[in-house]
Amino acid sequence: MTGCMNMSLKIKINENYGTLKKNYLFSEIAKRVKLYTEAHPEADIVRLGIGDVTRPLSPVVVKALKDASEEMGNAATFRGYAPEYGYDFLREAIAGYYKKFPVEITADEVFVSDGAKSDVGNIVDILGDNEILIPDPVYPVYVDSNLMSGRRVSFLNGNIDNGFSPLPDGIAEKPYIIYICSPNNPTGAVYTRDGLKKWVDFANKTGSLIIFDAAYEAFITGDYPHSIYEIEGARTCAVEICSFSKTAGFTGTRCAWTVFPKELEAGETKLADLWSRRQATKFNGVSYVVQRAAEAALTEEGQRECKESIAYYMENARIIADVLESKNIRFTGGKCSPYLWLECPNGMKSWDFFDYLLEKEQVVGTPGAGFGNAGEGYFRLTSFGSREATVEAAARLKRLL
Ligand code: MLT
Repeated sequence: MTGCMNMSLKIKINENYGTLKKNYLFSEIAKRVKLYTEAHPEADIVRLGIGDVTRPLSPVVVKALKDASEEMGNAATFRGYAPEYGYDFLREAIAGYYKKFPVEITADEVFVSDGAKSDVGNIVDILGDNEILIPDPVYPVYVDSNLMSGRRVSFLNGNIDNGFSPLPDGIAEKPYIIYICSPNNPTGAVYTRDGLKKWVDFANKTGSLIIFDAAYEAFITGDYPHSIYEIEGARTCAVEICSFSKTAGFTGTRCAWTVFPKELEAGETKLADLWSRRQATKFNGVSYVVQRAAEAALTEEGQRECKESIAYYMENARIIADVLESKNIRFTGGKCSPYLWLECPNGMKSWDFFDYLLEKEQVVGTPGAGFGNAGEGYFRLTSFGSREATVEAAARLKRLL
C-alpha cells in the first residue's frame, strides 16, 4: 500500500544556496542559447561567451599524454593514486616557472589541483567567518562560493574611472579576505606594481589574506606583475592560484595549482597545513597522465607552443577591438587579456544586449551584469574563438553596431 504520504525529506539543507542567483552565469547563458537554437534550428551561432579555448593541445603536450598513457599501460611503470599535492616533477616544474618573473617559490609550496575554479571554490573550506572583499565586476565563483558558506561579502567598486582596478583607499582597517584577479576577468584590467603594492601593504597592516587569481597572467604584455610574489611583502599575506586552462589549452584536460607560502600563518597555524589537510581528505590528486602533460607545457618547447596559441588569441582580440574602435564603442581589455569589455551601445542593459545580439546577429557574448552589479551596462566578448568564428563575429558586429 503506497497511500498519499508526504514523501518530503525532513532534513535541513544548506539554506545559503537560497541567496544565490538561480543559475550559475555560464549555465544561464547555455540555457538561453539552447532555447534559441531549439526555436531557430537553422541559426548559425557564433559563440564568444564562455572563455573556452579552441586551439588544440600543443604537440609537446600531446606527446607527453601519449607517453604517459603508455606508462600507465605497462605493469612496470603503472601508477595508482597520485600524491595529493601533485607529483614532485610537476611541483618542481611550477616552482621553476616562477623563476622567470623572478620569484622564489619552493616545490613544497605548490599544490597541484584539477582547476583554478576548484581551488577558488574550495579555499573557503579552510577559512572562518571573515569579512570578504570582492571586486565588482569579477569572476562570479568568488562571490557564489562565499555565499554558499554564508559569508558576508562586501564589494569593491570597479569602474571606468578607476580603470576597473579598485584600491584599498578609504577602506576600514580590519582583517578581510580580499580577492584580486589580475588580469581581471571580465574587464581585462591589470594591476600595476604600485596598485598591487597598495593591496599588499594594506593586507599586511590589517592582517588580511589576499587570494590572488593569476589565471590570465600569461596574456600580459608590458611591465605588469605576473605574480603577486613579485611584490615585496606578498609572502606573508597572499595565496596565488594559477591554471593551465587558458595558457596551455587545458580547459578540458584540467590542471592548476595554488601557492601557499610557508610564511602564511594565522596565529600559530600555517595556512599550508590547513590546505594540505583539506586536500588530503577531500581530493585524490590529478591523474599522472595530465600532470605529465602539464609538465610538458612548462618546458621550453611547451612554453614556445603556448605562446603561439596566446598570440593567436590576441590577434583575435585585435580583430574584435578594431570593430569596436571603428564604431566608437568604449572598451577595456584585449591587450593583456583575452577578454574585451565593452559598454553596451545606446545605454542598453547587459541582458537586453545579450538578447539583441543573439536575435539580430546570432552572436553569443557574456552580459556584464553576470559579473556583478557594477557590470550592468557592459558586455564581455572572448577572443578564445577560432579565427574563422572571430572574423565572422567581427563582421556581424560591424553590421549591427
Ligand atoms: C569565463 O568565461 O569566465 C571562464 O571560462 C570561466 C572559468 O574559467 O571557469
